[in-house]
Amino acid sequence: MKLIIAGSSGFVATELIRQALSTPSITEIIALGRRETPPPNKLGPNSDVTKLRSVVLGDFLSYTDEVKESLESADAVIWTIAISPSKLSTVTWEEACVISRDYAVKGIDTITQLPRDGKTEPLRFIYMSGSNAVRDQTKKPLLMGDYLLMRGDAETKILNYATTSNGTVETQVTKTGIIEDPVQLSVVSKLGRAFLRSLVGLPKINVDVIAAALLDQAINGFEKDTLLNEDLVRIGEARLAAGASGQNQAPSTG
Ligand SMILES: NC(=O)c1ccc[n+]([C@@H]2O[C@H](COP(=O)([O-])OP(=O)(O)OC[C@H]3O[C@@H](n4cnc5c(N)ncnc54)[C@H](OP(=O)(O)O)[C@@H]3O)[C@@H](O)[C@H]2O)c1
Repeated sequence: MKLIIAGSSGFVATELIRQALSTPSITEIIALGRRETPPPNKLGPNSDVTKLRSVVLGDFLSYTDEVKESLESADAVIWTIAISPSKLSTVTWEEACVISRDYAVKGIDTITQLPRDGKTEPLRFIYMSGSNAVRDQTKKPLLMGDYLLMRGDAETKILNYATTSNGTVETQVTKTGIIEDPVQLSVVSKLGRAFLRSLVGLPKINVDVIAAALLDQAINGFEKDTLLNEDLVRIGEARLAAGASGQNQAPSTG
């Protein structure tokens, strides 16, 4: 299968690429970013780096013909581009909305319309969001209200896109808590983060687990249109236990 990973230079995307390179059923990985994406430093077992192709796009509201051609015939897209709360001060509010919401909408609209070489299965499009994002635009949270409503609006727009697509695309939203790389964190950092998480009431998921869950859904199909942190932990841990082939399916919630 051909997988597009948008935002390929990011934290989660780097782990996604690392695992995808070791996954035999993924035969082509398009790493779509605003700059070149080299193979990850640490490769997994039986990695095949020849599957990775870096595609650079300067403006995610305007796809060149060359970029469009490289995105043709995809089976699945995992969209990781967004401005996270910790980076909000680096852009204007208008830019944060465009990057976190409008880029994804333009992305799904562009990729869905490309030729797919006779493939009849719907394109699978996964939009990564956060556990606290709010879809109901009348329910503004007290903390980070504008940001959480904007991310919720993006979720709605992506899910609605599938509803009106005549079966050409299926969409899924993943709502994770804090994503951690346990290998990179010291004991003190782990304790500090656990304290912060408990203050804001956010669950956590390790980066290898969320990447495994995203790949599972991209490869095997969507369990449901919205996956919460607990769903992602269950699916990701089952896939990691099954190994790169992912032969053992994640247990269903029923
Ligand atoms: N990390 C967490 O704890 C966490 C928790 C909940 C939800 N999430 C969500 O999960 C997703 C992935 O998170 P992450 O931690 O992997 O994010 P990240 O490391 O910040 O990566 C974000 C990606 O977006 C790209 N990007 C940012 N501004 C851009 C622009 N103007 N044009 C094009 N690309 C741009 C970045 O490219 P550059 O590398 O070039 O900047 C990078 O590839 C996001 O939607 C995030 O909100 C993350």
